[in-house]
Amino acid sequence: MIAPAFAAERADALVQRFSAHFGRRPEVIVRAPGRVNIIGEHTDYNNLPVLPMAIDRHVLVAAAARDDRRIRVANVDGHFAPRTYQLQADVRRFAAGDWGNYHKAAARGLLSALGVDALHGGDFMVDGDVPPGAGLSSSSALVVGSALALLAVNDRSIPPLQLAGLTAMAERYVGTQSGGMDQAVCLLAEAGHALRIDFDPLRAHTVPLSIGYAFVVCHSLVAAEKAGAARNAYNNRVVECRLAARVLARLLGARLPRPLTHLGDLRILFADRSLADFVAVLENALPPRPLRIQEIADAIGARSELLAAESGSGMHPQETYDIVRRARHVLTEAERVEQAEAALAAGDWLGLSALMDASHASCRDDYDISSPALEELIAAAKAAGAQGARLTGAGFGGCTVNLVPSGDTSLFLAMIERSFYLHKAAARGREHAFAVAPSAGASVMRV
Ligand code: GLA
Repeated sequence: MIAPAFAAERADALVQRFSAHFGRRPEVIVRAPGRVNIIGEHTDYNNLPVLPMAIDRHVLVAAAARDDRRIRVANVDGHFAPRTYQLQADVRRFAAGDWGNYHKAAARGLLSALGVDALHGGDFMVDGDVPPGAGLSSSSALVVGSALALLAVNDRSIPPLQLAGLTAMAERYVGTQSGGMDQAVCLLAEAGHALRIDFDPLRAHTVPLSIGYAFVVCHSLVAAEKAGAARNAYNNRVVECRLAARVLARLLGARLPRPLTHLGDLRILFADRSLADFVAVLENALPPRPLRIQEIADAIGARSELLAAESGSGMHPQETYDIVRRARHVLTEAERVEQAEAALAAGDWLGLSALMDASHASCRDDYDISSPALEELIAAAKAAGAQGARLTGAGFGGCTVNLVPSGDTSLFLAMIERSFYLHKAAARGREHAFAVAPSAGASVMRV
Protein backbone atom coordinates (compact mmCIF):
# COMPACT_ATOMS: atom_id res chain seq x y z
CA MET A 1 0.00 0.00 0.00
CA ILE A 2 2.11 2.89 -1.20
CA ALA A 3 0.55 6.31 -0.92
CA PRO A 4 -0.72 8.26 -3.87
CA ALA A 5 -0.06 11.95 -3.44
CA PHE A 6 -2.33 13.19 -0.71
CA ALA A 7 -2.91 16.67 0.49
CA ALA A 8 0.76 17.51 0.90
CA GLU A 9 0.06 20.71 2.77
CA ARG A 10 -2.11 19.01 5.35
CA ALA A 11 0.42 16.24 5.76
CA ASP A 12 3.19 18.83 6.34
CA ALA A 13 1.07 20.65 8.90
CA LEU A 14 0.39 17.34 10.64
CA VAL A 15 4.14 16.58 10.82
CA GLN A 16 4.63 19.98 12.50
CA ARG A 17 1.86 19.33 14.99
CA PHE A 18 3.18 15.89 15.77
CA SER A 19 6.69 17.25 16.35
CA ALA A 20 5.43 20.09 18.56
CA HIS A 21 3.32 17.72 20.65
CA PHE A 22 5.60 14.70 21.02
CA GLY A 23 9.01 16.37 20.61
CA ARG A 24 10.09 14.14 17.70
CA ARG A 25 9.18 13.52 14.10
CA PRO A 26 6.61 10.94 12.94
CA GLU A 27 7.78 7.95 10.90
CA VAL A 28 4.59 7.37 8.91
CA ILE A 29 1.42 9.13 7.85
CA VAL A 30 -1.65 7.04 7.11
CA ARG A 31 -4.53 8.33 5.01
CA ALA A 32 -7.92 6.66 5.50
CA PRO A 33 -10.87 7.98 3.46
CA GLY A 34 -14.47 8.45 4.55
CA ARG A 35 -17.16 7.04 2.29
CA VAL A 36 -20.54 7.80 0.86
CA ASN A 37 -22.89 4.90 0.31
CA ILE A 38 -24.49 5.23 -3.12
CA ILE A 39 -27.03 2.50 -2.42
CA GLY A 40 -27.48 -0.58 -0.20
CA GLU A 41 -28.45 0.76 3.22
CA HIS A 42 -28.55 -1.57 6.24
CA THR A 43 -27.92 -4.55 3.97
CA ASP A 44 -24.33 -5.27 5.03
CA TYR A 45 -25.08 -6.83 8.43
CA ASN A 46 -27.63 -9.03 6.65
CA ASN A 47 -24.88 -10.45 4.42
CA LEU A 48 -26.39 -8.65 1.44
CA PRO A 49 -24.46 -6.37 -0.92
CA VAL A 50 -23.66 -2.65 -0.76
CA LEU A 51 -22.39 -0.13 -3.32
CA PRO A 52 -20.43 2.71 -1.67
CA MET A 53 -17.45 4.80 -2.82
CA ALA A 54 -14.54 6.24 -0.86
CA ILE A 55 -14.52 10.06 -0.86
CA ASP A 56 -11.81 12.69 -1.08
CA ARG A 57 -12.11 13.48 2.63
CA HIS A 58 -9.81 11.63 4.95
CA VAL A 59 -8.60 10.88 8.41
CA LEU A 60 -4.81 11.31 8.57
CA VAL A 61 -2.81 9.60 11.32
CA ALA A 62 0.86 10.49 11.87
CA ALA A 63 2.71 7.96 14.00
CA ALA A 64 6.06 6.97 15.46
CA ALA A 65 7.09 3.82 17.31
CA ARG A 66 7.81 3.57 21.03
CA ASP A 67 10.04 1.04 22.80
CA ASP A 68 7.46 0.35 25.48
CA ARG A 69 3.80 -0.72 25.17
CA ARG A 70 2.31 2.69 25.78
CA ILE A 71 -0.06 4.35 23.33
CA ARG A 72 -0.40 8.13 23.23
CA VAL A 73 -3.04 9.56 20.88
CA ALA A 74 -3.55 13.26 20.25
CA ASN A 75 -5.85 15.13 17.86
CA VAL A 76 -5.27 18.32 15.92
CA ASP A 77 -8.88 19.25 16.78
CA GLY A 78 -8.90 20.61 20.34
CA HIS A 79 -12.37 19.13 20.97
CA PHE A 80 -10.69 15.74 21.26
CA ALA A 81 -8.37 15.71 24.29
CA PRO A 82 -5.20 13.55 24.23
CA ARG A 83 -5.54 9.98 25.48
CA THR A 84 -3.05 7.39 26.67
CA TYR A 85 -3.38 3.70 27.35
CA GLN A 86 -1.34 0.54 27.56
CA LEU A 87 -1.30 -2.36 25.09
CA GLN A 88 -2.24 -5.36 27.19
CA ALA A 89 -4.49 -8.40 27.19
CA ASP A 90 -7.53 -6.53 28.43
CA VAL A 91 -7.79 -3.05 26.92
CA ARG A 92 -10.66 -1.47 28.85
CA ARG A 93 -12.89 1.16 27.20
CA PHE A 94 -12.70 4.85 27.97
CA ALA A 95 -16.13 6.33 28.88
CA ALA A 96 -18.93 5.70 26.35
CA GLY A 97 -18.67 8.17 23.46
CA ASP A 98 -14.97 8.92 24.06
CA TRP A 99 -13.08 9.32 20.77
CA GLY A 100 -10.15 7.30 22.15
CA ASN A 101 -12.28 4.17 22.00
CA TYR A 102 -11.87 4.04 18.22
CA HIS A 103 -8.09 3.78 18.63
CA LYS A 104 -8.54 1.18 21.33
CA ALA A 105 -10.91 -0.76 19.07
CA ALA A 106 -8.19 -0.95 16.40
CA ALA A 107 -5.53 -1.97 18.91
CA ARG A 108 -7.72 -4.65 20.48
CA GLY A 109 -8.55 -6.08 17.06
CA LEU A 110 -4.88 -6.29 16.12
CA LEU A 111 -3.84 -7.80 19.45
CA SER A 112 -6.47 -10.49 19.18
CA ALA A 113 -5.38 -11.32 15.61
CA LEU A 114 -1.62 -11.16 16.12
CA GLY A 115 -1.24 -12.11 19.78
CA VAL A 116 -1.25 -9.94 22.92
CA ASP A 117 2.54 -9.52 22.93
CA ALA A 118 2.90 -8.96 19.20
CA LEU A 119 2.96 -5.16 19.15
CA HIS A 120 4.89 -2.40 20.85
CA GLY A 121 3.33 1.01 21.44
CA GLY A 122 3.44 4.29 19.56
CA ASP A 123 2.65 7.99 19.49
CA PHE A 124 -0.18 9.09 17.19
CA MET A 125 -1.54 12.43 16.01
CA VAL A 126 -4.87 12.50 14.19
CA ASP A 127 -6.20 15.08 11.73
CA GLY A 128 -9.14 14.85 9.38
CA ASP A 129 -11.74 16.53 7.24
CA VAL A 130 -14.46 13.86 7.27
CA PRO A 131 -17.24 15.61 9.22
CA PRO A 132 -17.96 13.57 12.37
CA GLY A 133 -21.46 12.19 12.96
CA ALA A 134 -22.41 12.86 9.34
CA GLY A 135 -22.92 9.29 8.16
CA LEU A 136 -19.71 9.57 6.10
CA SER A 137 -17.88 7.01 8.19
CA SER A 138 -15.42 9.22 10.04
CA SER A 139 -15.33 6.64 12.84
CA SER A 140 -14.40 3.70 10.62
CA ALA A 141 -11.78 5.85 8.88
CA LEU A 142 -10.33 6.51 12.34
CA VAL A 143 -10.36 2.81 13.25
CA VAL A 144 -8.78 1.78 9.94
CA GLY A 145 -6.26 4.66 10.06
CA SER A 146 -5.30 3.77 13.63
CA ALA A 147 -4.90 0.08 12.77
CA LEU A 148 -2.70 0.81 9.74
CA ALA A 149 -0.59 3.27 11.74
CA LEU A 150 -0.10 0.83 14.62
CA LEU A 151 0.87 -1.91 12.17
CA ALA A 152 3.24 0.44 10.30
CA VAL A 153 5.19 1.50 13.41
CA ASN A 154 5.57 -2.20 14.20
CA ASP A 155 6.77 -2.96 10.66
CA ARG A 156 3.87 -5.33 10.24
CA SER A 157 1.15 -5.54 7.63
CA ILE A 158 -2.09 -7.44 7.11
CA PRO A 159 -3.61 -7.93 3.63
CA PRO A 160 -6.37 -5.30 3.07
CA LEU A 161 -9.23 -7.78 2.67
CA GLN A 162 -8.31 -9.50 5.93
CA LEU A 163 -7.78 -6.16 7.69
CA ALA A 164 -11.23 -5.01 6.50
CA GLY A 165 -12.91 -7.96 8.20
CA LEU A 166 -10.77 -7.59 11.30
CA THR A 167 -11.45 -3.85 11.76
CA ALA A 168 -15.19 -4.36 11.13
CA MET A 169 -15.36 -6.85 14.00
CA ALA A 170 -13.06 -4.68 16.11
CA GLU A 171 -15.21 -1.57 15.76
CA ARG A 172 -18.17 -3.31 17.41
CA TYR A 173 -16.24 -2.66 20.63
CA VAL A 174 -17.68 0.89 20.59
CA GLY A 175 -21.14 -0.62 20.91
CA THR A 176 -22.77 -0.66 17.47
CA GLN A 177 -23.45 -4.05 15.87
CA SER A 178 -22.38 -2.64 12.49
CA GLY A 179 -21.76 -4.57 9.30
CA GLY A 180 -18.53 -4.46 7.33
CA MET A 181 -19.19 -1.91 4.58
CA ASP A 182 -17.31 1.08 5.96
CA GLN A 183 -14.01 -0.59 6.74
CA ALA A 184 -14.03 -2.55 3.45
CA VAL A 185 -14.54 0.50 1.24
CA CYS A 186 -12.01 2.49 3.29
CA LEU A 187 -9.36 -0.14 2.58
CA LEU A 188 -10.28 -1.52 -0.84
CA ALA A 189 -11.64 1.40 -2.89
CA GLU A 190 -10.04 2.60 -6.11
CA ALA A 191 -10.03 6.15 -7.48
CA GLY A 192 -12.74 6.80 -10.07
CA HIS A 193 -14.76 3.77 -8.97
CA ALA A 194 -17.56 2.71 -6.72
CA LEU A 195 -17.05 -0.57 -4.85
CA ARG A 196 -19.52 -3.44 -4.87
CA ILE A 197 -19.03 -5.36 -1.64
CA ASP A 198 -20.43 -8.77 -0.71
CA PHE A 199 -20.14 -10.46 2.67
CA ASP A 200 -19.43 -13.83 4.21
CA PRO A 201 -16.96 -14.30 2.73
CA LEU A 202 -16.02 -10.65 2.30
CA ARG A 203 -15.25 -9.81 -1.32
CA ALA A 204 -15.35 -6.69 -3.46
CA HIS A 205 -15.03 -5.50 -7.02
CA THR A 206 -14.77 -2.03 -8.51
CA VAL A 207 -17.47 -0.44 -10.65
CA PRO A 208 -16.24 2.41 -12.89
CA LEU A 209 -17.97 5.75 -12.44
CA SER A 210 -18.04 7.65 -15.70
CA ILE A 211 -18.02 11.40 -15.57
CA GLY A 212 -21.15 13.35 -16.38
CA TYR A 213 -22.75 13.21 -12.97
CA ALA A 214 -21.48 14.32 -9.59
CA PHE A 215 -22.27 12.93 -6.16
CA VAL A 216 -23.06 15.79 -3.81
CA VAL A 217 -23.30 15.28 -0.08
CA CYS A 218 -25.55 17.51 2.07
CA HIS A 219 -25.62 17.46 5.85
CA SER A 220 -29.02 17.56 7.56
CA LEU A 221 -27.38 19.45 10.48
CA VAL A 222 -28.50 16.66 12.81
CA ALA A 223 -25.62 14.50 14.05
CA ALA A 224 -25.92 10.72 13.76
CA GLU A 225 -23.25 9.65 16.25
CA LYS A 226 -22.49 5.93 16.13
CA ALA A 227 -21.65 5.92 19.81
CA GLY A 228 -24.61 8.18 20.69
CA ALA A 229 -28.39 8.15 20.47
CA ALA A 230 -28.51 6.40 17.08
CA ARG A 231 -26.77 3.37 18.55
CA ASN A 232 -29.81 1.72 20.13
CA ALA A 233 -32.02 2.40 17.15
CA TYR A 234 -29.37 0.85 14.90
CA ASN A 235 -28.91 -2.19 17.11
CA ASN A 236 -32.69 -2.69 17.27
CA ARG A 237 -32.78 -2.93 13.48
CA VAL A 238 -30.07 -5.60 13.62
CA VAL A 239 -32.19 -7.64 16.04
CA GLU A 240 -35.35 -7.23 13.96
CA CYS A 241 -33.51 -8.48 10.88
CA ARG A 242 -32.16 -11.52 12.71
CA LEU A 243 -35.64 -12.33 13.90
CA ALA A 244 -37.04 -11.89 10.39
CA ALA A 245 -34.39 -14.29 9.06
CA ARG A 246 -35.30 -16.85 11.67
CA VAL A 247 -39.03 -16.54 10.98
CA LEU A 248 -38.51 -16.82 7.23
CA ALA A 249 -36.32 -19.87 7.63
CA ARG A 250 -39.15 -21.56 9.52
CA LEU A 251 -41.83 -20.46 7.07
CA LEU A 252 -39.76 -21.81 4.20
CA GLY A 253 -39.20 -25.09 6.00
CA ALA A 254 -35.43 -24.82 6.21
CA ARG A 255 -33.85 -27.72 8.13
CA LEU A 256 -30.62 -26.47 9.56
CA PRO A 257 -28.12 -27.66 12.11
CA ARG A 258 -27.72 -24.08 13.41
CA PRO A 259 -30.22 -21.20 13.53
CA LEU A 260 -30.02 -19.01 10.47
CA THR A 261 -29.48 -15.39 11.49
CA HIS A 262 -28.84 -13.38 8.32
CA LEU A 263 -31.49 -12.58 5.75
CA GLY A 264 -28.85 -12.94 3.03
CA ASP A 265 -28.21 -16.57 3.98
CA LEU A 266 -31.70 -17.45 2.72
CA ARG A 267 -30.48 -16.66 -0.76
CA ILE A 268 -27.89 -19.39 -0.51
CA LEU A 269 -30.27 -21.96 0.99
CA PHE A 270 -33.11 -21.26 -1.40
CA ALA A 271 -31.18 -20.35 -4.52
CA ASP A 272 -34.22 -21.04 -6.75
CA ARG A 273 -36.33 -18.37 -5.04
CA SER A 274 -36.12 -14.61 -5.49
CA LEU A 275 -35.77 -11.99 -2.78
CA ALA A 276 -39.26 -10.77 -3.73
CA ASP A 277 -40.55 -14.28 -2.98
CA PHE A 278 -39.20 -14.08 0.54
CA VAL A 279 -40.97 -10.75 1.07
CA ALA A 280 -44.26 -12.27 -0.15
CA VAL A 281 -43.91 -15.29 2.17
CA LEU A 282 -43.41 -13.03 5.15
CA GLU A 283 -46.23 -10.67 4.16
CA ASN A 284 -48.62 -13.59 3.85
CA ALA A 285 -47.78 -14.88 7.31
CA LEU A 286 -47.62 -11.70 9.36
CA PRO A 287 -49.11 -8.20 9.37
CA PRO A 288 -46.74 -5.27 8.58
CA ARG A 289 -46.82 -3.71 12.02
CA PRO A 290 -44.82 -3.99 15.26
CA LEU A 291 -45.48 -7.37 16.88
CA ARG A 292 -44.73 -8.87 20.26
CA ILE A 293 -42.53 -11.94 20.17
CA GLN A 294 -45.47 -14.05 21.36
CA GLU A 295 -47.62 -12.87 18.43
CA ILE A 296 -44.87 -13.77 15.98
CA ALA A 297 -44.36 -17.18 17.57
CA ASP A 298 -48.11 -17.92 17.52
CA ALA A 299 -48.42 -16.96 13.85
CA ILE A 300 -45.71 -19.37 12.77
CA GLY A 301 -46.38 -22.14 15.32
CA ALA A 302 -43.13 -21.72 17.22
CA ARG A 303 -42.30 -21.42 20.90
CA SER A 304 -41.59 -17.81 21.78
CA GLU A 305 -38.62 -18.60 24.09
CA LEU A 306 -37.02 -20.69 21.38
CA LEU A 307 -37.55 -18.01 18.75
CA ALA A 308 -36.11 -15.35 21.04
CA ALA A 309 -33.09 -17.48 21.88
CA GLU A 310 -32.42 -18.47 18.27
CA SER A 311 -32.60 -14.94 16.92
CA GLY A 312 -30.70 -13.34 19.79
CA SER A 313 -33.67 -11.05 20.44
CA GLY A 314 -33.83 -12.26 24.05
CA MET A 315 -30.44 -10.69 24.64
CA HIS A 316 -31.71 -7.24 23.66
CA PRO A 317 -35.37 -7.43 24.67
CA GLN A 318 -37.61 -5.00 22.85
CA GLU A 319 -41.35 -4.86 23.32
CA THR A 320 -42.18 -5.20 19.68
CA TYR A 321 -40.48 -6.19 16.45
CA ASP A 322 -41.44 -4.73 13.10
CA ILE A 323 -40.11 -7.61 11.11
CA VAL A 324 -42.19 -7.54 7.93
CA ARG A 325 -41.38 -3.94 7.14
CA ARG A 326 -37.71 -4.29 8.12
CA ALA A 327 -37.23 -7.40 5.98
CA ARG A 328 -39.10 -5.79 3.07
CA HIS A 329 -36.65 -2.90 3.12
CA VAL A 330 -33.55 -5.07 3.35
CA LEU A 331 -34.59 -7.57 0.68
CA THR A 332 -35.83 -4.98 -1.82
CA GLU A 333 -32.74 -2.84 -1.13
CA ALA A 334 -30.50 -5.78 -2.02
CA GLU A 335 -32.30 -6.04 -5.38
CA ARG A 336 -31.76 -2.32 -5.91
CA VAL A 337 -28.01 -2.76 -5.36
CA GLU A 338 -27.88 -5.33 -8.17
CA GLN A 339 -29.90 -3.05 -10.43
CA ALA A 340 -27.80 0.01 -9.51
CA GLU A 341 -24.58 -1.77 -10.39
CA ALA A 342 -26.06 -2.66 -13.79
CA ALA A 343 -27.27 0.93 -14.28
CA LEU A 344 -23.81 2.31 -13.47
CA ALA A 345 -22.14 -0.15 -15.82
CA ALA A 346 -24.52 0.99 -18.58
CA GLY A 347 -24.07 4.70 -17.78
CA ASP A 348 -27.81 4.81 -17.09
CA TRP A 349 -27.89 7.75 -14.70
CA LEU A 350 -31.65 8.15 -14.80
CA GLY A 351 -32.05 4.49 -13.89
CA LEU A 352 -29.64 4.97 -10.98
CA SER A 353 -31.54 8.09 -9.88
CA ALA A 354 -34.84 6.22 -9.76
CA LEU A 355 -33.22 3.47 -7.69
CA MET A 356 -31.77 6.02 -5.26
CA ASP A 357 -35.20 7.61 -4.84
CA ALA A 358 -36.80 4.21 -4.25
CA SER A 359 -34.09 3.37 -1.73
CA HIS A 360 -34.83 6.54 0.19
CA ALA A 361 -38.56 5.85 0.23
CA SER A 362 -37.92 2.35 1.55
CA CYS A 363 -35.50 3.67 4.23
CA ARG A 364 -38.17 6.14 5.30
CA ASP A 365 -41.34 4.06 5.04
CA ASP A 366 -40.19 0.55 5.98
CA TYR A 367 -36.95 1.06 7.90
CA ASP A 368 -37.95 4.26 9.75
CA ILE A 369 -34.46 5.77 9.62
CA SER A 370 -35.29 9.12 8.03
CA SER A 371 -36.08 12.27 10.02
CA PRO A 372 -37.94 15.56 9.45
CA ALA A 373 -34.63 17.32 8.69
CA LEU A 374 -33.62 14.66 6.15
CA GLU A 375 -37.05 14.88 4.49
CA GLU A 376 -36.83 18.65 4.22
CA LEU A 377 -33.33 18.33 2.77
CA ILE A 378 -34.39 15.73 0.19
CA ALA A 379 -37.27 17.96 -0.95
CA ALA A 380 -34.90 20.94 -1.17
CA ALA A 381 -32.41 18.87 -3.17
CA LYS A 382 -35.05 17.76 -5.64
CA ALA A 383 -36.20 21.36 -6.09
CA ALA A 384 -32.55 22.37 -6.63
CA GLY A 385 -32.13 19.89 -9.50
CA ALA A 386 -30.92 16.61 -7.92
CA GLN A 387 -31.90 13.63 -10.08
CA GLY A 388 -31.63 11.02 -7.34
CA ALA A 389 -31.53 11.89 -3.65
CA ARG A 390 -31.38 9.66 -0.61
CA LEU A 391 -30.16 9.53 2.96
CA THR A 392 -26.79 7.81 3.24
CA GLY A 393 -25.22 5.81 6.07
CA ALA A 394 -27.06 4.65 9.14
CA GLY A 395 -29.69 7.44 8.97
CA PHE A 396 -31.42 9.07 11.97
CA GLY A 397 -29.71 12.30 10.86
CA GLY A 398 -26.42 12.74 9.03
CA CYS A 399 -26.16 13.32 5.28
CA THR A 400 -28.00 12.82 2.02
CA VAL A 401 -26.28 11.83 -1.22
CA ASN A 402 -27.53 13.53 -4.37
CA LEU A 403 -26.91 12.72 -7.99
CA VAL A 404 -26.49 15.99 -9.89
CA PRO A 405 -25.50 16.56 -13.54
CA SER A 406 -21.84 17.71 -13.34
CA GLY A 407 -22.45 21.01 -15.09
CA ASP A 408 -25.18 21.92 -12.60
CA THR A 409 -23.24 21.34 -9.38
CA SER A 410 -22.50 25.01 -8.60
CA LEU A 411 -26.09 25.99 -9.22
CA PHE A 412 -27.32 23.08 -7.09
CA LEU A 413 -25.06 24.11 -4.21
CA ALA A 414 -26.16 27.75 -4.44
CA MET A 415 -29.83 26.77 -4.46
CA ILE A 416 -29.59 24.36 -1.56
CA GLU A 417 -27.68 26.99 0.41
CA ARG A 418 -30.58 29.41 -0.03
CA SER A 419 -33.43 26.99 0.45
CA PHE A 420 -32.08 24.82 3.29
CA TYR A 421 -29.07 26.30 5.09
CA LEU A 422 -29.42 30.08 4.92
CA HIS A 423 -31.88 30.59 7.74
CA LYS A 424 -30.69 27.82 10.04
CA ALA A 425 -28.57 28.95 12.97
CA ALA A 426 -26.87 25.52 13.16
CA ALA A 427 -25.53 26.00 9.64
CA ARG A 428 -23.32 29.01 10.40
CA GLY A 429 -19.58 28.84 9.97
CA ARG A 430 -19.20 25.47 8.25
CA GLU A 431 -19.44 23.92 4.83
CA HIS A 432 -22.36 21.51 4.85
CA ALA A 433 -22.82 20.63 1.19
CA PHE A 434 -20.04 19.58 -1.15
CA ALA A 435 -19.34 17.39 -4.16
CA VAL A 436 -17.30 14.27 -3.42
CA ALA A 437 -14.89 12.53 -5.80
CA PRO A 438 -14.55 8.72 -5.89
CA SER A 439 -11.19 8.17 -4.22
CA ALA A 440 -8.59 5.51 -3.52
CA GLY A 441 -8.60 3.39 -0.38
CA ALA A 442 -6.30 3.91 2.59
CA SER A 443 -2.53 4.22 2.15
CA VAL A 444 0.60 4.43 4.27
CA MET A 445 3.42 6.87 3.56
CA ARG A 446 6.85 6.81 5.23
CA VAL A 447 7.94 10.38 6.10
C1 GLA B 1 -23.36 2.34 9.42
C2 GLA B 1 -22.67 1.00 9.66
C3 GLA B 1 -22.56 0.19 8.38
C4 GLA B 1 -23.92 0.09 7.68
C5 GLA B 1 -24.60 1.46 7.58
C6 GLA B 1 -26.01 1.37 7.06
O1 GLA B 1 -22.55 3.13 8.60
O2 GLA B 1 -21.36 1.21 10.19
O3 GLA B 1 -22.01 -1.08 8.65
O4 GLA B 1 -24.74 -0.83 8.33
O5 GLA B 1 -24.63 2.12 8.84
O6 GLA B 1 -26.02 0.94 5.74
